[in-house]
Amino acid sequence: MSFDSLLRGWLRPFAVCGLTLALVGGFAPAPLLAAAPVYEKTPAGAKAERFVDDLLGKMTLEEKLGQMSQIPLNQKEDVTPDERILKGQVGSFLFVTDAKEIDRLQHLAVERGPHHIPLIFGFDVIHGFRTIYPVPLALAASWDPSVAENAESMAAREASAVGVRWTFAPMVDIARDPRWGRIMEGAGEDPYLGSQMAAAEVRGFQGPEIGSADHILACVKHFAGYGAAAGGRDYDSSDISDNELWNVYLPPFEAAVNAGAGSVMSAYMDLNGVPATGNTFLLRDVLRDKWKFDGFVVSDWDSVFNLTTHGFASGPEDAAVRAVNAGVDMEMTSHVMRDNLADAVKKGLVKESTIDAAVRQILLMKYRLGLFAHPYVDLARVSAVEESAEERDGAKAAAEKTAVLLRDEGGLLPLKSVKSIAVIGPLADSKADTMGSWSLAGDKDATVTVLDGIRRRFGATAAITSTKGVEIERGQPSIFDSQFWSPDPVLKTAAAREAEFNHAIDLVKQADVSVLVLGEAQNMSGERASRLSLKLPGEQERLLEAAVATGKPVVLVLLNARPLNITWASEHVPAILEAWYPGTEGGDAIAALLAGDANPGGKLPVTWPRSVGQVPIYYAHYLTQIPHDRDTMYWDGSSAPLYPFGYGLSYTTFALSNLRVSAPDVKSGGALTVSVDVKNTGAAAGDEVIQLYTHQRAGSASRPVRELKGFRRVSFQPGEEKTVTLTLDTKELGFWSAATHRWAIEPGKFDLWVGTDSNAKEHAEFTVLP
Ligand code: BGC
Repeated sequence: MSFDSLLRGWLRPFAVCGLTLALVGGFAPAPLLAAAPVYEKTPAGAKAERFVDDLLGKMTLEEKLGQMSQIPLNQKEDVTPDERILKGQVGSFLFVTDAKEIDRLQHLAVERGPHHIPLIFGFDVIHGFRTIYPVPLALAASWDPSVAENAESMAAREASAVGVRWTFAPMVDIARDPRWGRIMEGAGEDPYLGSQMAAAEVRGFQGPEIGSADHILACVKHFAGYGAAAGGRDYDSSDISDNELWNVYLPPFEAAVNAGAGSVMSAYMDLNGVPATGNTFLLRDVLRDKWKFDGFVVSDWDSVFNLTTHGFASGPEDAAVRAVNAGVDMEMTSHVMRDNLADAVKKGLVKESTIDAAVRQILLMKYRLGLFAHPYVDLARVSAVEESAEERDGAKAAAEKTAVLLRDEGGLLPLKSVKSIAVIGPLADSKADTMGSWSLAGDKDATVTVLDGIRRRFGATAAITSTKGVEIERGQPSIFDSQFWSPDPVLKTAAAREAEFNHAIDLVKQADVSVLVLGEAQNMSGERASRLSLKLPGEQERLLEAAVATGKPVVLVLLNARPLNITWASEHVPAILEAWYPGTEGGDAIAALLAGDANPGGKLPVTWPRSVGQVPIYYAHYLTQIPHDRDTMYWDGSSAPLYPFGYGLSYTTFALSNLRVSAPDVKSGGALTVSVDVKNTGAAAGDEVIQLYTHQRAGSASRPVRELKGFRRVSFQPGEEKTVTLTLDTKELGFWSAATHRWAIEPGKFDLWVGTDSNAKEHAEFTVLP
């Protein structure tokens, strides 16, 4: 399906919200990562400023508003995109991915548009462009920021080759509710891991600086609080306390801004009653004034117009006025700013200087990206870059590094000298589901499914059989994956479905080992893909239980991007590999992992609940008055997670010993080093992720029972022992206190744990001195 038809079906429901700006200001947390220098203060920046100011001086108000307008491909309007370009009524397009069309439009803008201003083409390059990498939640499961950085850097190369110079990524929304489908697009539940991944993705997309060759502009989204959607319902409003906002939801945004992200997207929903796209507190007080953000802000899709839908703005003009005054510089898809702001300026509702400031940021970013100097697409280069061997190798390596081994009883994995393998399940040979959501420009045909991978890796020595066993009802096609839509199920009668089920179980009985590839269809995870239940959809659980009941060994490979209810499997299926949506090379990577050519070393970036009733559940909770009863807080089941945050097994084992902290106390502002000896005690080479958690024992406010403050993924040969050292900067211990309404590192006693998941056992303590 084309993007055109995709766009025609695009309708967005919104929640209605209140009017007040409920957030009280406060001091932003100290940056987790060092801030980038303000661009205008550099010599190149001063030159760019002169260029842009000169250009601005020549532009009419209408032309300025054109720069602030972003149009989707073929939006049905009376005026064609070409005419808009010639009249100077558009500054950016989204969803154009064809190199020739981008080049044609750019020639039009630069050669015949007013002032020869180049367009900037944006697209959701979320985890790959043509070559698809594992989804962002999976990248976070690598616990290795360089994996995310490399993936986004390669994605940027493919996208920039066709002229897409701007991605709407990374999504850095913290998500603690797996019902929310967009949990797949972020780094999970934790602000520290999320901040590291956010900064890495920005570096990956943008390169060493904005305008680096083969790189593109990042857009940090969705500012802010989208991940706290009530009930996990996508687009629903978020109500976040100051404590959580400053300490949990904002840090990854700040880290991305400090990493130099050149654009930020305002979110759809109300934050504490004020839509994010009209939220002066977020867009001006926090982003500009406190964080000194020097890029531009784009609204999310139609979200400027939708300030009216929210019951916030009284009409289109009011929406445009309130968005621009709040700090939106570019309007995505709706055009109430373009249509209303000239009058609004005349009426004195908006100052022309506000418009100038917005356009200035946009033009500066186009300049910094090199669009004025090199606007066109090098058409000869497109095919050389796309899906090169390097990209595909990178995608395979990433998929290997992101998989998490959840169970391996009796050493079933890696598979040893098997003569026959049954590869079963609705996702076993599904290319679209291997890619995952947000892979709209991805090369579906090139995708290697798990079945393909197993055939290639084991086919010479083992007989491979395969069937679906059951089909998944995919529900309504979502616009985000409609290019993949196929009307499942194809087996229409109950008898045909039962025959297929029995056929699958027969194959399981006949094989030495079976690999069941189960999970969620890709359109069940992503935007507007919230779920009520975390169970394996459809008849997959029945299939799994029947396969295990044969008594033959079963390996469960999960393709999904949210924790699922696999409580039964966690007790009965000997081996479980969480492979996420692994991307173009997913099948080869999974086969390599099953064979032991690669060893799983990923760790969960989210706490894994036993059932949806435990949601939200996260490790960094607060202590209650009955800490010892933490796991028995429900009458009808355990309140302990199935797997803790940071958990993941390996084909080898590791022993940690001799934890030491460089000093018993440290002055506020200083740093400690924390070391531990780590030994690979097994027979396989493998990676372990050493994780550091702290707890502040007392202070102006209670602090979470544990918080991640450092980690490192390290490779070990069999028998190898290394000392792993982590730096604990006391800045990481600072927090925004709801008691004092300020950010501070509070002196006092702290606990420290080092281990291989959030239940880390090696313990020490230290004191922070004033
Ligand atoms: C999403 C954004 C995305 C935009 C453009 C919106 O619906 O919320 O994350 O970047 O569409 O595709």
